Amino acid sequence: MAELLGLGLTHYPLLAVQDKYMSSLLRATRRDPDIPEREKDPANWPEQMRAEWSDDRGLAAAAGHRAELLDGLRRCRAALDEFRPDALIVFGDDQYENFREEIIPPFCVLALPDVKVQPYAPMNEIGLPNAWGQPEDSSFELRGAPELGKSVATGLLEAGFDMSYAYRQREGIHFPHAIANTQLYLDYEHAGATFPYPMLPILVNCYGRHVIARKGGMAKFADIARGEELDPPGPSPVRCFEMGRALARTLRESEHRVAIVASSSWSHAFLNDKQWHLMPDMDADRALYRALVDGDLDTWLRVRGDDLAAAGQQEMLNWFCLLGAMTEIEAPLSWSALVETYIFNSNKCFAIFGQEGA
Ligand SMILES: [Fe+2]
Repeated sequence: MAELLGLGLTHYPLLAVQDKYMSSLLRATRRDPDIPEREKDPANWPEQMRAEWSDDRGLAAAAGHRAELLDGLRRCRAALDEFRPDALIVFGDDQYENFREEIIPPFCVLALPDVKVQPYAPMNEIGLPNAWGQPEDSSFELRGAPELGKSVATGLLEAGFDMSYAYRQREGIHFPHAIANTQLYLDYEHAGATFPYPMLPILVNCYGRHVIARKGGMAKFADIARGEELDPPGPSPVRCFEMGRALARTLRESEHRVAIVASSSWSHAFLNDKQWHLMPDMDADRALYRALVDGDLDTWLRVRGDDLAAAGQQEMLNWFCLLGAMTEIEAPLSWSALVETYIFNSNKCFAIFGQEGA
């Protein structure tokens, strides 16, 4: 009989850069000439947003945001160390990393051997130095769990869930940052270098209709106005939930001790078209967080893929996978926190499920 722990956390890329660069996404968004000036003017922003932006373009707020995120990450790491898993199974979105024009699976188990990962690569690409002051090409080893990957893929396929899998990382592109940053941030003090647990990534096509259209990133409003060539949808929230359930059923038959992890922030400003990419959809995140804390599964299961996209919450599909697994094993929510911010792109949720004595 397997033992399972559940964790939800963030892979927010700008936590890996220095405080003075943390608001760079908002600064870049404000340079988009097709966003109305009045929307960009801090005088018209919500009070909480103005307070964060302050007179230093968010420099002081960045230190506070980092402290809150590190607190959530430390709690997750402590739960992990107390549980001592054989491996982590990490649901993470693929942002034009492994999923590209050649093939877009809804999900993919990465049954990889140990891989060398350069965690600063995505931020290097946009010219932002890392928070640790390390050389740009620093790397750590991300320990794979290929045998677990094969047995998970086998179990899901035998259960009627058509799961894709891969044995090799795509060349010529950085390792999916949703996974790399999970190790980097759970071992923040050592920049990922001393993380003791193997990881089995399950990539999720969270970006759906925008997976190629926006290449895992931000669109300019001129391009949106011209009309985007949308892609077919990703897996639905309910399908992700069911996949998580099937995964937990598969694992239950085994002797593994596994931590199941959802790696993603919640609403992303750069995906929230209706608020001009300036801020995350605060109301949508608060509503789902309330439902999470209240154990109100019906509210979550009423959400459609188009609802998530309209709220910039595409990456929350990872959380639907986690919630499915935790529902299947009836693991209660032991602890959670929603770290809100208007100016640092996304709200970040942390959660621990099934931790005894919490
Ligand atoms: Fe992401």
